[in-house]
Amino acid sequence: MLGLLTPTDPSWVQAAGGDLDRLLSDHAHCELKAAQSALSLLGRFSGEAPELIGPLAALGREETAHFDLVASRIQQRGGVIGLPSNDDYVRALRAAASRDHHDGYPVLLDRLLVSALIEGRSCERFRLLSDGLPTLELRTFYRDLMASEAKHFTLFTELAKGRFGVDDVRSRFTTLATREAEVASRLPLGPQVHG
Ligand SMILES: [Fe+2]
Ligand SMILES: [Fe+2]
Repeated sequence: MLGLLTPTDPSWVQAAGGDLDRLLSDHAHCELKAAQSALSLLGRFSGEAPELIGPLAALGREETAHFDLVASRIQQRGGVIGLPSNDDYVRALRAAASRDHHDGYPVLLDRLLVSALIEGRSCERFRLLSDGLPTLELRTFYRDLMASEAKHFTLFTELAKGRFGVDDVRSRFTTLATREAEVASRLPLGPQVHG
């Protein structure tokens, strides 16, 4: 699915759905980090890649709106947003990509493709939640968000292709997707979007 090389263990849905409060709290932080990441890309690359400005400013707004949706759901349940996790998945993925930076791979290419992979993994996991959570309301909630994450995957890969060309993107994506699969398969199965 969306370029991912290893599917998530289906038993993750039980682990995640077994502690919905923690799952939703972690999910809220994921949306916030997605917004922050879009803005951070703008801060670093708006000058050299002005074509990013419109799409990533819009993405930052959309991810912020997703945070608001998840936060509202937490409040409706009488819960609170906990402190953010260490985010081992994203950190390991960025570290895995940076192994090659001495070989001259453009940092922007990797930032866009790592973002695409994170969106792709989120999309895959939201699909699992949209099939496996106990209530129709939550399944519908995750189905809608799944569609957004699929669009974000496409956004990042298209931005990368527009700047670096299809061949370079395909080649680098294959390497990074292999590493993403290794990282994802090592994560414990718990009530986190990526863990
Ligand atoms: Fe989102
Ligand atoms: Fe997203």
